[in-house]
Amino acid sequence: MRKSLAFAAVSLLLVSVGAHAQGKPAEEEKPPVFEKAFLEDPANIEMGKQVWQQQCRHCHGASAYPGKAPKLVPGRMDADFIYDRVTYGFRKMPGWKEVFSQQQRMAVAAYIKSHEFSP
Ligand code: HEC
Repeated sequence: MRKSLAFAAVSLLLVSVGAHAQGKPAEEEKPPVFEKAFLEDPANIEMGKQVWQQQCRHCHGASAYPGKAPKLVPGRMDADFIYDRVTYGFRKMPGWKEVFSQQQRMAVAAYIKSHEFSP
């Protein structure tokens, strides 16, 4: 009896940890510092463009279904904010921490802030 109770408690814990894994800051990953050199590096911008085209455009892009997601206004957001939304998500915006590496998530922020960004 005791044993099964303990087991139930552990599995409950695991389930809730799993459910909250998205949207919670991860201890092991430090928030990035966006240096000018990173933001302007064409290799990063190119990497970010790939991420954008694969996973962001169909919700945020110019040809996305109206109302699916807000059109991004890069002038009103800094790279840290974009990175935060991409990593952890927010309300109906999914988080991508488990999908993209930190470098890719930083790169998509660099792309959105770059002159090359085209929604
Ligand atoms: C399933 C659709 C969907 C996908 C895919 C998606 N987003 Fe979002 N995103 C949203 C929604 C919906 C919001 C608005 C969330 C809110 O504020 O309630 C949002 C908000 C944002 C915001 C904040 C905008 C603002 O003005 O506050 C940023 C930045 C953003 N998304 C970037 C991205 C990037 C970069 C990707 C690709 C890695 C991406 N999103 C993929 C749906 C999506």
